[in-house]
Amino acid sequence: MSPFVLPHFPLTESGYKSSTNDCDPAPMSLKTIAQSSHFSSNLTGASTFNNTHLNLHHQFNLHRLDPRLQPEFLHLWSGFYYGEMAATELSVRLTEMAPDRHLQRFSAETHHEDEQWHAEVFQALVQALPGHPDMPAPPTWAQDVVQKVRNCNSYLELTVGSLVIEASAVFLLELQADFPDELGQIFRRMLLQEKGHVAFASRYLHEHFRNSDAQQRKRLKSLMLDTFRYMRDSIRPQFIELHLSPVLPLLGISVQDYQDRARMASRDVIRSILRPR
Ligand SMILES: [Fe+2]
Ligand SMILES: [Fe+2]
Repeated sequence: MSPFVLPHFPLTESGYKSSTNDCDPAPMSLKTIAQSSHFSSNLTGASTFNNTHLNLHHQFNLHRLDPRLQPEFLHLWSGFYYGEMAATELSVRLTEMAPDRHLQRFSAETHHEDEQWHAEVFQALVQALPGHPDMPAPPTWAQDVVQKVRNCNSYLELTVGSLVIEASAVFLLELQADFPDELGQIFRRMLLQEKGHVAFASRYLHEHFRNSDAQQRKRLKSLMLDTFRYMRDSIRPQFIELHLSPVLPLLGISVQDYQDRARMASRDVIRSILRPR
């Protein structure tokens, strides 16, 4: 098996990333990241959120599976890589458009650094697969999403977009959180961070909804529905075909099961924002 070196955990005990150390790559400025050619991607397809109850069959498979030796994981992990790159770019735009310093700080520090680490992990996972494959070229769905992110000048719309991506990442990571050893540990850490990103976006949107008049509420509701539909109809089918189909059997679930869970999760996310707390 090839040597497998992952970027180390970026979190301190407080949950916030400490400054980089000698093992980290040189930090890139937000501007550099936004202009990087790598960042021609974005939002992940697939979706869902919430705790998923993994069945026994699924757990049985995962305990016997070393994904680092399965070439099929190139599809899933490269998809994740482009999703994480897109999420990173989204964190840059959220930083630029943030209406106050508190929101700006979360996007510029916690969110942005988490996403950078996620992208580094998936890049390392791809490179460590048998044969050390190259990262595939950015898929069309990723380029489409990045264009949307780059052209969007509304903090509210960016937050809804972020919510959709983060919720997608949560469900996909839950499927991998039972991998054995270091890999499972890394995915569980990443999962916690993604849940934090979902919670942050949800809280902001819920507050916005609560403080809005009837017309603004209607607009937010339709913005969320449109964004989730865009994910469901334009992004998810490509993501499933390119990145998930070869891997879902190894993870012990079917495409239909995946789609059903993604739909339910989207519904739960929308309801959690629109209902009174
Ligand atoms: Fe992420
Ligand atoms: Fe995230």
